[in-house]
Amino acid sequence: MVDVAIENGHALVTIDNPPVNPLSVSVRQGLMDAVRRVNEGKCETAAIVCAGRTFVAGGDISEFAGPPPLPHLPDVLDAIEASPTPFIAVMHGTVLGGGLELALACAWRIADEKTRFGLPEVNLGLIPGAGGTQRLPRVIGLERAARMAANGNPVNTKTFEEFGGLDLVFSGDPTQALAAFRAALPARPVNTSDRSVENADLTALKAEIAKSAKGADAPMIALETTALAATLPFAEGSKIERQTHLELRASAQSRALRRLFFASRSVTRPDRLKAFTPAAINHVVIVGGGLMGAGITAASLAAGHRVTILERDTESAEAGRGRVEAIIAKDLESGRITESKAEARRASLSAGANYAAAFDADIAIEAVFEDPDVKRAVFAELAAVMSEDALIATNTSYLDPNLISEGLPGPGRFLGLHFFSPANIMKLVEVVGTSATADQTMATAFAFARGLGKIPVETGVCDGFIGNRILSAYRRQADYMIADGASPYEVDKAMRALGMPMGPYELQDRTGLQISWANRKRQLAAGTWPGRYVDIADRLCEIGRQGRGSPMKKGWYDHTGGAGQPDPEIETMVAAWRSEHSTGGQSFTSDEITMRIMAAIVNEANLILEEGIATSDAAVDIVWTEGYGFPKHLGGPMFWAEETGIERMREAFAAIEAQSPGSWKAAKIFQG
Ligand code: NAI
Repeated sequence: MVDVAIENGHALVTIDNPPVNPLSVSVRQGLMDAVRRVNEGKCETAAIVCAGRTFVAGGDISEFAGPPPLPHLPDVLDAIEASPTPFIAVMHGTVLGGGLELALACAWRIADEKTRFGLPEVNLGLIPGAGGTQRLPRVIGLERAARMAANGNPVNTKTFEEFGGLDLVFSGDPTQALAAFRAALPARPVNTSDRSVENADLTALKAEIAKSAKGADAPMIALETTALAATLPFAEGSKIERQTHLELRASAQSRALRRLFFASRSVTRPDRLKAFTPAAINHVVIVGGGLMGAGITAASLAAGHRVTILERDTESAEAGRGRVEAIIAKDLESGRITESKAEARRASLSAGANYAAAFDADIAIEAVFEDPDVKRAVFAELAAVMSEDALIATNTSYLDPNLISEGLPGPGRFLGLHFFSPANIMKLVEVVGTSATADQTMATAFAFARGLGKIPVETGVCDGFIGNRILSAYRRQADYMIADGASPYEVDKAMRALGMPMGPYELQDRTGLQISWANRKRQLAAGTWPGRYVDIADRLCEIGRQGRGSPMKKGWYDHTGGAGQPDPEIETMVAAWRSEHSTGGQSFTSDEITMRIMAAIVNEANLILEEGIATSDAAVDIVWTEGYGFPKHLGGPMFWAEETGIERMREAFAAIEAQSPGSWKAAKIFQG
C-alpha cells in the first residue's frame, strides 16, 4: 500500500490504496515505516505521491465505528513533520480531510492546477482529528482556515495558492514538476506546528455558520476548535481537537451522517443490477421543454450528452431552448463553468417538434403536462421511431408508468425517472420500474443517472412513489392540525425548528398549489383518498391563491411584497372552515406538531417498506434527505424514528389516529 523508492538520495513514497487512497491502518503504518526508511537512508527529500486518480481523499470511514487501530494518524503526521528528511506532498485530484492534514504536516506542498483542497469532516458530523484545525490556520490564516473547517467546502488550486497553501503549482507531469522543485529547493520552512497564528475576529463568520448549519453541531465546533490555534500551542490545541473528534464519532449526528453516506452508495448501486453492463448513452431526447424538461436537459448536457428537446411546435421548442440557455448562462455567470464549456453545451443542444429526430436516441425522457392521455401519446410516438433497445422514461410525479406504456411494443424498455425541481441541481432521481421493465433497462437507467451526478433510488409503483407518497401523508396530518386548531404558520415554524428548510405550507407556496390540487381531485374521483378530507387548500386554489409563482403572488402567505408574509385573510378562511365543520379549538405545542407529523411520515414509510415499494430504510432516508430537505444530521425519518424510540412514536401515532379516526392505515409497527 505504501512503497518507498530511493534514487540519488531522494525518496519517492507512493501511496496506492484504491479507489481514493484513504488513510487506512495499513497506509498509516506504511507511512510510519517510510519515515524511518528515508531517515535511515539519509535522504535529502522524500516526496509523497498517490497512485490513481487522486491524492489521499480522506480517512477510512469504515474504521470510524470503533476505536481507531494503531498507529494513530496524529502520531504519523507528527513523525512526518519532525522527520530530519523533509517531506514534499505532490498532489492531484481531491486532497480532503486526512489527505489535507497529511499535506499540512509536510515541509512543502506542490499541486496540479486542477486539485481541490478541503476539510469535509463536518459533512459526517465530525471535525478533523489529526491536527487539521491547528495546522491549517498556521499555513493560511485563522479566518480562512476556520471557514474551510466549518463549511466543509473544498477550494480549488488557485484559491489555495492565493491563501499561501502551496509552494508550486504545476500542470501535467508531476514527476517533472517534482524534479524541477527539487532542483531549486527552497530553504526548509519552520515546521507548521511551530508557527504562530495571528488572532482574527470571527464574529461575522460565527453568525454565518450558525445560520447555515441549521441544527448541525459539527460546523460550529469545527470553527471554535480552529480558533484555539490563535491562543494555544499546537500540542494543546491538537489534543483538544483529537478528543473532540473522538467524542463526535460516537454522536447521534455523526452516526446519522455516516449511515447516510454508506446508504447513498449502496442504494445507488443495487446488487441485483451488478450483473448487467449498462448501455452507452450518447443521444438524449427530452420531450417537453418546460420547467422540468429544461432542468433535465441542462443536467444531461453538463454530463456531456447530446440532447434534443422535442416540443409541441417550433415556438415552444425555442422557448425550451431558451430556458436551457438561461440555466447555462447562470452557471457561466456564477463561475461554475467556463465560456468554452458553456459553448460546448449550447452546441450539443437541438430543439424541434419532429419526432424523427429521436430515431437514434439512446434514452428519451418525457416531461410534458401531467396528463395520462398526453403522456401516452408521447410514449407511442417515441416507441414508433426509437430502437427497441433504447430507454423511454416518464418524469411523472404521480401517474402509473404501467398505464402510460401499456400495450406499446418493447415493454422492457419503459420506466419512470422522477427528477426533482430544479432538476439541474437536485440530486435525487426516483427510478420506477413497471411490471415489465427489464433489469438491463434499470441498470442503464441507474448508470445514466449516476453519470448525471444524481442519486438514483429504486422505487415501486404507487401513488407518488416513495417521496411524494410520504409527502402526501405529511401534508394530510398538517391539514388535520390546522383544521383542528393550529395555524399553518405554527406548523411551518415547528417543522423549521426540527431542521426542515421550510414547513409544509411554505413548501406549497414555493412549488405551487395546483399540482397537489389536481392530484387530490384525481384521488377523490378514483375513491382512493384515505379518510378525512380537509379542503382548505382547495379553497385557496379556487380563489387563485396558488402560490408564490401564481399571478396573484399569494398562497398560504402573501408574497406580493417579496418575502412571504403571514396573511390575516388565511386566518379568516381557516376560521370559517372550522366553524362550518364544527372543528377547531385544539391547541398543539411545537413538539406535538413535530411528533404528529413525524408519526404520519414514519407510518407511511413503513407501509411503503411493507409493500416493497422501497427496498430499505436507507432508501427512504435518502429520498427524504436528498429530495425534501429532511436534515441530514438527523439521518432521515427512519433513522430519526429509531433514535426517538418506538414508544414515543407509538404514542404520537395513537394521537393522530384519535385525532382523525379512520384516516390512517397503521403500519405493522404501530398495530396492536
Ligand atoms: P411545464 O408545464 O413547465 O412543462 C411542460 C412542457 O411540456 C411545456 O413546455 C409544454 O409545451 C410541453 N408539452 C406539453 N404537451 C406536449 C407534447 N404533446 N409534446 C411535447 N411537449 C409537450 O411542466 P413541468 O413542471 O415541467 O412538469 C412536467 C412533468 O414533470 C409533469 O409530469 C410533472 O408532474 C413532472 N414533475 C414536475 C415537478 C415540478 O416540480 N414541477 C417535479 C417532478 C416531476
